[in-house]
Amino acid sequence: MATERTLSILKPDATQRNLTGRINAMFEENGFRIVAQKRIHMSEGQAKEFYAVHKERPFYGELWSFMISGPVVVQVLERDDAVAKNRELMGATNPANAALGTIRGVIAQGIERNSVHGSDSAENAAIEIAFFFKPEEIVG
Ligand code: RTP
Ligand code: MG
Repeated sequence: MATERTLSILKPDATQRNLTGRINAMFEENGFRIVAQKRIHMSEGQAKEFYAVHKERPFYGELWSFMISGPVVVQVLERDDAVAKNRELMGATNPANAALGTIRGVIAQGIERNSVHGSDSAENAAIEIAFFFKPEEIVG
């Protein structure tokens, strides 16, 4: 499998609990290279646009408000099969179903406070990476 990139976000529950380094260690121990990273406070407009795909879902309002409730760390992760491998490492959306050893299994506090976002396809990864980063901000 060729080298691939995926977008990752450390959500406000993770930054609030000072877990940036711990989660990043899990990425690096699992073969990912963090080739871009910045800590930002998303605007309401940005969060609504980023999650527009979920606009009709009942949890949309809670989701975008949670994502602007504190700082997040947006990052580009690189490795072979990065999209699928990151979804595996993140674990199930609801931490109650996330395997032990996954990021959500170890760190998440609930279905909303689930600590990490990861792109769900290579196509969406390209869109999501371009949403937050200019090409020259990504250094592999
Ligand atoms: P993410 O997009 O954050 O990587 O998570 P995911 O693919 O595992 O889950 P997705 O279905 O894309 O949902 C996006 C985020 O919405 C919140 N959510 N809340 N209350 C609910 O039933 C519910 N369902 C989903 C979660 O924070 C999820 O990560
Ligand atoms: Mg998703």
